[in-house]
Amino acid sequence: MPAITINKTLISVEPGTTVAVAILNAGVDHFRTSVSGSERGPLCGMGICFECRVTINGITNLRSCTLLAENGMEVTTSEPPA
Ligand code: FES
Repeated sequence: MPAITINKTLISVEPGTTVAVAILNAGVDHFRTSVSGSERGPLCGMGICFECRVTINGITNLRSCTLLAENGMEVTTSEPPA
């Protein structure tokens, strides 16, 4: 079973789970912050809207709904606005 970190919290996920689902299952629904400052999260779930972008292993703006969680991934979402 893959183990990934989401915002520095280690979680186990079922094989075949997308990163977006892993993030949501971890209780995080704020994936990124728009230019206007609003919280954004997955919308289409199939790689079209780009609302689910996160940083994975230091690479920014990856669509989390299109990637399967792999053991050792380090995922960072945007911090909620203060
Ligand atoms: S949810 Fe739309 S691209 Fe990921």
